[in-house]
Amino acid sequence: MQYIEITGAKKLSGSIRIHGAKNSALPLLAGSVLLGDECFLYDCPQLSDVTACAEIITQLGGKVSREGSTLTVNTAGINSAEISEELMNKMRSSIIFLGSLSAKHGSACVYLPGGCQIGARPIDLHIMALRALGYSITCDGNNICCRRASASGGTVRLPFASVGATENAILAAVLLDGTSTIINAAREPEIEDLAEFLNTAGAKISGAGSSIIEIEGVRSLSSVHHRIIPDRILAATIMSSVAATGGEAVLKNVRALHLSSVLPVFDEMGCKLFLGNNEIKIISNSRPRAVRSIVTGVYPSFPTDAQAPVMAALCRSKGTSRITETIFENRLRHTEELERFGADISVIGNTATIHGKPKLHAAEARCTDLRAGASVVIAALSAEGTSRIYDISHIDRGYEKIEDGLSMLGASVRRVNDEKGKQIKTENAQTGTHSGDGES
Ligand code: UD1
Repeated sequence: MQYIEITGAKKLSGSIRIHGAKNSALPLLAGSVLLGDECFLYDCPQLSDVTACAEIITQLGGKVSREGSTLTVNTAGINSAEISEELMNKMRSSIIFLGSLSAKHGSACVYLPGGCQIGARPIDLHIMALRALGYSITCDGNNICCRRASASGGTVRLPFASVGATENAILAAVLLDGTSTIINAAREPEIEDLAEFLNTAGAKISGAGSSIIEIEGVRSLSSVHHRIIPDRILAATIMSSVAATGGEAVLKNVRALHLSSVLPVFDEMGCKLFLGNNEIKIISNSRPRAVRSIVTGVYPSFPTDAQAPVMAALCRSKGTSRITETIFENRLRHTEELERFGADISVIGNTATIHGKPKLHAAEARCTDLRAGASVVIAALSAEGTSRIYDISHIDRGYEKIEDGLSMLGASVRRVNDEKGKQIKTENAQTGTHSGDGES
């Protein structure tokens, strides 16, 4: 078992390059199935979720290789469209492959742990979207199967702008004979990135990034070279680290436009921000100021994935801040872990009230999910003394060697291999579960 050890209360200083976005890499890999050809993904982060996606492609018969940050994917050899229980366990969000596999290979089956949940959360919108395009969906025990048959496109009206359902709908529509429209589509930058990748390969997608997307079906796609957009959540995590510890950092390879709802929060915290050409400099001279109210929402509102890291920075703020989570239920579990560092947070419903403390102290804490993991790392960076963070496999799903990046900024952080496999216990410890985490 590994854990991360951090000696905190050190100001950060230096520059860091932001790696490619996890939430782009995963749908792009699902999209590579539509090509039936080779594609090159540049700036593809080395994350366990990306590896899991690559393993799915490999086990279906495709080929994936990595050289540095470039992933070469060849899906010509895919001869199966069944994502088994074993594969599903590697990446629970492999539902994203359902649209592309059935579009390209006529049908696809995905194992769903706990049985099929057609009509119920959390994949009801994916099912609805695929059916609206003309696909037929059936459920056989724990397998959900999707058949293309005579699907010819259609109009998908999403009651909620789900990122995954929008991506699945795009992937399922690209190779159909007819034209399709997605109404109330998610507008996240990762959707635009997926559309750009597919359009470069020959697709005809317009409107990505707006709430109405039109897809004119094409017969086939071809090889493509694509650079993945920078990870806006990694950028928000690094800025939260600087706000929490003080100091300054230059973030390179970052798109300020993708952070339009996040940057004003750091401004309100009293950080100084300087926007350059694909870079942001953040300076934090003192304890952060409290932020009146943050409410998470669909893009371009404040991203749910940045909620936990920003909350960690606010634990040392002067005053009281409020954060309301509207996208996922039960995504405030990190508050209990942050309290181990001495943070004062009260939660009522989906709102956390953070009463800033001048100092946090070292603690042993665990990662309850990916972004919760980032929040405890930030708490440890700002706390006095040496902290240990457990269950760090969650962090490795979304941050490439987080200890290296933070060390480059002067933090005292190291990954330790612990043979004894110590685990800290909490009353409601659910190691390995992801409920309420959209990134599971
Ligand atoms: C994606 C991101 C995740 C981010 C989330 C919201 C990836 C790999 N993950 O997750 O990091 O936190 O967007 O920005 O890109 N829902 C349903 N039925 C469905 C689908 C979703 O009820 O069929 C609900 C979910 O339970 C959740 C909300 O809709 O409450 C948002 O989900 P969605 O936008 O689909 O997020 P993901 O695509 O899963």
